[in-house]
Amino acid sequence: MADEHPTVADQQQIWGGRFAEPTDAFVARLNASVDFDRRLYREDIAGSRAHAAMLGAQGILSAEDAAAIDAGLTKVQAEIEAGTFVWQTALEDVHMNIEQRLTAHVGEAGKRLHTGRSRNDQVATDLRLWLLRCVDETLPVLDRLTDALLTLAERDGAAILPGYTHLQRAQPILLAHHLLAYVEMFERDRGRLVDCRRRAAECPLGAAALAGTPFPLDRQMTAAALGFARPMANSLDAVADRDFAVEFTAAASLAMVHLSRLSEELVIWSSQEFGFVELGDAFATGSSIMPQKKNPDIPELVRGKTGRVFGDLVALLTVLKGLPLAYNKDLQEDKEALFDAADTLRDCLEATARLLPSLTVRVERMRAACDAGFVTATDVADHLARRGVPFREAHHVVGRLVAWCIAERRTLPSLTVDEFRSFHADFGDDITEAVTVEASVAARTSEGGTAPARVNAALATARARQATRGA
Ligand code: ARG
Repeated sequence: MADEHPTVADQQQIWGGRFAEPTDAFVARLNASVDFDRRLYREDIAGSRAHAAMLGAQGILSAEDAAAIDAGLTKVQAEIEAGTFVWQTALEDVHMNIEQRLTAHVGEAGKRLHTGRSRNDQVATDLRLWLLRCVDETLPVLDRLTDALLTLAERDGAAILPGYTHLQRAQPILLAHHLLAYVEMFERDRGRLVDCRRRAAECPLGAAALAGTPFPLDRQMTAAALGFARPMANSLDAVADRDFAVEFTAAASLAMVHLSRLSEELVIWSSQEFGFVELGDAFATGSSIMPQKKNPDIPELVRGKTGRVFGDLVALLTVLKGLPLAYNKDLQEDKEALFDAADTLRDCLEATARLLPSLTVRVERMRAACDAGFVTATDVADHLARRGVPFREAHHVVGRLVAWCIAERRTLPSLTVDEFRSFHADFGDDITEAVTVEASVAARTSEGGTAPARVNAALATARARQATRGA
């Protein structure tokens, strides 16, 4: 990065002849975005090529100029990708850096590229294009995570563990059922990303600075060439809004919420207190002082990084909320927030997808937690209710029964029929079968419930959905 102080000559390349004095050196640095927006170079070059080809096709530029611009941009892209391109802070942003280098390569023709265009529609186009690619690259990572959840469910999903409410043992569930809950959450996250992509796929090019342009542009042509569904309908809206960045970051925030909850459970489950899972050595870390430690740093980091994505969302919303139409420089603040949210989401999806297969599931620990937890108390109440006892009364009886068991250090499955009957005469002989965790799980056959038949069907449905995506 050449970060020399801009000269008047540098600035005249951007702003033309209006300025006689160079910008204050400190202000020039603050004003420049090239340190972060150079990340848009591919989109910027693609946008310029589409614009130049269209200017040529419309006879706004000569065919020779259009061809020279195209060849020059190919060269510039090669220089950037070879690492030989010299980015200059003095040239402010990715757009001026590339245009200046293009002009160095092709002369006059390069100076004609900006006909009928402004950096305002240019940057909005670049950022939308970047977002489309970002969604396209994020979905396969999300699909790998879903795949990892399904594989784990297929491998160890028959394990029974307590389901929790208030982090108190509540009712037994299949591990597959628990994992499939996350599959559903990530499926909705996928839908939100696809949905956001669909709305972002409109092309701002041709809006120019804000009001459109007198040149006879073919906006359909540039939109189609760049893979957009259509041009944006209103030139002010095209350069002024960043709702697509907000939508993506909001979708990313929710996906991070889901990742964070899963991570939190992995942290709890891998504690000695729970001992439900063990993380693979490749996904855990040690302590520099306590030799016995195996820490779940990766899930903790995912949980922690969730906060920064929320921060990005709030930053974007706040940048937009007070802006009069159309373009304002505040909008330059959109990029770092969007990039950070996208990078963080992708890294966290990837890390979690890699970590899940390394889990060792402690089936016996999960099972023991069920046995110690009175998790089939609801089944005992349901048993009485089915035999005509009003549920509220049954609930009360079982409450006393559980209190007695705690005092006597007994578990529900250890009780005899007579012991049950000493609490209520209406207990049937089959109560001792109904009170096992297997029977409890098997009984929850309602749609969306944890009965093995329901869970296996849900697993097959989710697998089939993944298969249609080639995951
Ligand atoms: N770097 C600017 C941005 O990110 C590009 C657009 C500049 N437009 C302008 N009128 N100054 O928003």
